Amino acid sequence: MEKKWLEAVAAASGLEALETLRVEALGKKGEISGLMKGLGALTPDERKSAGAALNQLKDSVAAAIEARKAQLGEAAIDARLQRETLDMTLPVGTGPQGRLHPISQTIDEIIAIFGEMGFKVAEGPDIEEDFYNFTALNIPPDHPARQMHDTFYLGASGSGRPTNPAALGAEESADRKFGKAATPTDLEGRKLLRTHTSPVQIRYMKSHKPPMRIIAPGRTYRCDSDMTHTPMFHQVEGLVIDEKTHMGHLKGCLTEFCRAFFGVSDLPLRFRPSFFPFTEPSAEVDIGCSRKGGELKLGNYGDWLEILGCGMVHPKVLELGGVDPARYQGFAFGMGIERIAMLKYGIPDLRTFFDGDARWLSHYGFQP
Ligand code: PHE
Repeated sequence: MEKKWLEAVAAASGLEALETLRVEALGKKGEISGLMKGLGALTPDERKSAGAALNQLKDSVAAAIEARKAQLGEAAIDARLQRETLDMTLPVGTGPQGRLHPISQTIDEIIAIFGEMGFKVAEGPDIEEDFYNFTALNIPPDHPARQMHDTFYLGASGSGRPTNPAALGAEESADRKFGKAATPTDLEGRKLLRTHTSPVQIRYMKSHKPPMRIIAPGRTYRCDSDMTHTPMFHQVEGLVIDEKTHMGHLKGCLTEFCRAFFGVSDLPLRFRPSFFPFTEPSAEVDIGCSRKGGELKLGNYGDWLEILGCGMVHPKVLELGGVDPARYQGFAFGMGIERIAMLKYGIPDLRTFFDGDARWLSHYGFQP
């Protein structure tokens, strides 16, 4: 009987067939189990020898089944390995290639140009505190400049729920903008989406010692949406502070940047007096251009286009940033990234930057 089972096990062609055999031999109703049950009817002496023989049979068949099982398992793995071989020498298929968004490309270019002038890159949070976005920049709660920034405030309770002034009643909206509804201390702790990158100036001053020379590119938000405004856009902030930094450095630095960025070596720049609460004096910078016949050309053509705001950092701002205004002074600037990207790359419509249209990206995007 042992020979019969061992031969059957050896001939089992697969794991399923082997399991069937195991049940037939050793299962509850299997042949060998049946013989075991029959032992009870024998005399004690007969039972002793027959029992030993049956146990030996049972162990031998069980061992044969285990061995065959391992063998079949290995064969299955071998077969699978055969089936799934990979030819590493086959040529790679060329799928569609990704492109860099013009905003990313422009930020990289800005970092490279200022990097050559010794600027480091700094960052600040998109969700900012009222204090850093306004108060520390010399824009106290009742300052009319707050009205110029259409601010997205986050829920006062800290729930994170955005309270969009446009969605509030006119009166409440005005209260929020002017801070009449809350005391200044309440207001300054309030969270908002930063309306410009200037709060990074304060954060950097508070955490570093002068001299400093940084740019801070990033997202900014204003509750405004039309042909030339999107609720989210990008700015790059610049901040230089040292003992003798003056307006001449500001002019030289921005002139150098604009000429390098636009690739026009004699690009004329016009520094027009302006006002920002956090700089004194303040200026806006225009670059020379021509817009004849709807075509934009950069250069000395008599027409001007505004591209950035700048000025000497207000002593109050230095003080709020923990920098001694009696010893240090410096300049700051802020530039719209979409604006200069549109000028450089001839992108006519601001809103297309954020449509997420793959055809647009394959046209204006950059090979990484
Ligand atoms: N933060 C200003 C704006 O968003 C720009 C600016 C930055 C002006 C730094 C002066 C100095 O309009």
